[in-house]
Amino acid sequence: MKVIVVGNGGREHTIAWKLAQSNIIEEVICVPGNGGTAFEKKCRNIDFSKCEYLNGITGNDAYIKVAKENNCELAVIGPENPLAEGLADLFWNAGIPTVGPKFQAAQLEASKDLAKGFMHKYNVACAKSKTFTSKEEALIYIKEQGAPIVVKADGLAAGKGVVVAKTLEEAENAVEQLMDGSIAGEAGKKLVIEEYLRGTEISILAAVSVTKEFSEQGKSCIVPFLSARDHKRLFDGAKGPNTGGMGAIAPVDDATPAIISQFEKNILEPTLKGLESENYDYRGFIFFGLMLTEDGPKCLEYNVRLGDPETQAVLPLMDFDFASLCKSITDGSLKDFKLEWKKGYQVAPVAVSGGYPKSYKKGYNIIINEEKVNESNAKVFIAGAMENRRSQSPDDTKLVTSGGRVLACSAYGTTFDEAWKNAYEAMSGIKFNDMFYRKDIGLPGAAESN
Ligand code: AMP
Ligand code: GLY
Repeated sequence: MKVIVVGNGGREHTIAWKLAQSNIIEEVICVPGNGGTAFEKKCRNIDFSKCEYLNGITGNDAYIKVAKENNCELAVIGPENPLAEGLADLFWNAGIPTVGPKFQAAQLEASKDLAKGFMHKYNVACAKSKTFTSKEEALIYIKEQGAPIVVKADGLAAGKGVVVAKTLEEAENAVEQLMDGSIAGEAGKKLVIEEYLRGTEISILAAVSVTKEFSEQGKSCIVPFLSARDHKRLFDGAKGPNTGGMGAIAPVDDATPAIISQFEKNILEPTLKGLESENYDYRGFIFFGLMLTEDGPKCLEYNVRLGDPETQAVLPLMDFDFASLCKSITDGSLKDFKLEWKKGYQVAPVAVSGGYPKSYKKGYNIIINEEKVNESNAKVFIAGAMENRRSQSPDDTKLVTSGGRVLACSAYGTTFDEAWKNAYEAMSGIKFNDMFYRKDIGLPGAAESN
C-alpha cells in the first residue's frame, strides 16, 4: 500500500525511512518531506506548489487531495499543528485510516489548561497546578506559593511558553510578559501556574488506540516504547539556551523497571482511562514528558505525536514492522501487536547551523562521508536540509542546509559506550559551514535536571 507522511522534520524522515522498510509499503508520499526523504528508498516528496491537480485547493484540504490522487491507504501525521487543527478528522472523513489523534484529543497538547484538567480529573501523577486568565489573581497566587515556580502559556508556543522561575521576580515578569503577549502571543493569554518539580527528565513515546467502539470491545490500549531522553540545551553540560533538541538517546538506564512500572500504574493507566471516559478518538502516538522525582515519575506534559529528536533514537531500535504497527493502531488490533526491540542502545546527536537557536545562515553544502556513517552503524536523519537544486558545480553536494537543526546522526551499539563512539565517529565525517553539535549527548551531566 501507499502511505502519506505529513511533515518536514527529522522525525518525519525517520518515520518515512522506517515505513519504507516494510514489505507492505509500496511507496511513502512525503508532504512536503525534506532533503532526507528526497533521497530515501521508496519515498517521494510532494510540493503543493507543483501539483496542478490541486487547482487552488490549499491548507489541510490539499493533504487530502494529494492522498486521494496518489491512492494512499494510510496517513501518518508527524507534527502537532496540523493535528491541533483537525487534519486527522479530515483524513478519516475522506476514508483514509490515519495515525494521529482527532481534533478533540489533539487539544491535550494544544492546551496546557485542558491537559492539566485532564490529569487532575483522572489522577495522573503530575505537578499541582492552577489556571489563570486574570493577571492580578495569577500574581497573588505566585506570592502565596513562593519560588521556584513554573509559569506556562496555555497554548502552543513552539517551546517558548514555559518559564521555570527560580525567583518570585522572574515568575512575576513571566506572568506580565506572557499575558501581554510579548513572549508567546495569544498562547499566553491564559496561564497555568505549576508546582516546581525536582528531578531528571525522560520521555516515553507510546502507540495509542482508543475509540468508543474499541473501548466497548475491550480493545483500547496504550503501548509504551523504550524510554528515551532529549537534550534541549544548546551547550554541553545542559547549559545555554533552550533549543528544539540537541540529541537523544534510547533506552535510558535510569528509567529502571521499577520506575517504568510506577509510570504504567500512575500515569499510563489513568491516562488510558481518561481517554476512554472522554470518548476521544485517539489513534496515534503519545509522548509522555516525565520528571523522575523522589516521589516517583510525574507527568510534565502530553504531546500528541512522536518526539523530535527522540524518534530518531527510538525507531531504529524497533525490531518489528512499523507499518503494521501503524495499521494496528487504526484498526483496533494494537493490543495483540507484539513489539520486539533490538537489544542495545541508540545515540543520536543533532548538528545545527551556527547561530541557532537565534539567526543563522542557510544554503551551505553538506558533506557526508557515507562510508564512515555505514561503518559506524549509523544513519543520518535529515531535518533542516534540502535537495540542492543549484546548477551543479563539482564542489556542490546533493544536500544544502535549510534550517536550524540540520540533521541527527543516530548510531547503534550493543552497549551505550559503543553506540556513543559510533555516533560521534559518524558525526566526524559530516561537514558544513558553521556546523555545531554537542559532544556529550547521553553522558553523565548532560541531562536536564534540577
Ligand atoms: P513542558 O512544555 O510543559 O514540558 O515544559 C517544558 C520544560 O520546562 C520541561 O521539559 C521541563 O524542563 C520544564 N518544566 C516544565 N514543568 C516543570 C515543573 N513543573 N517543574 C520543573 N520543571 C518543569
Ligand atoms: N523532544 C521534545 C518534543 O518533541 O517536543
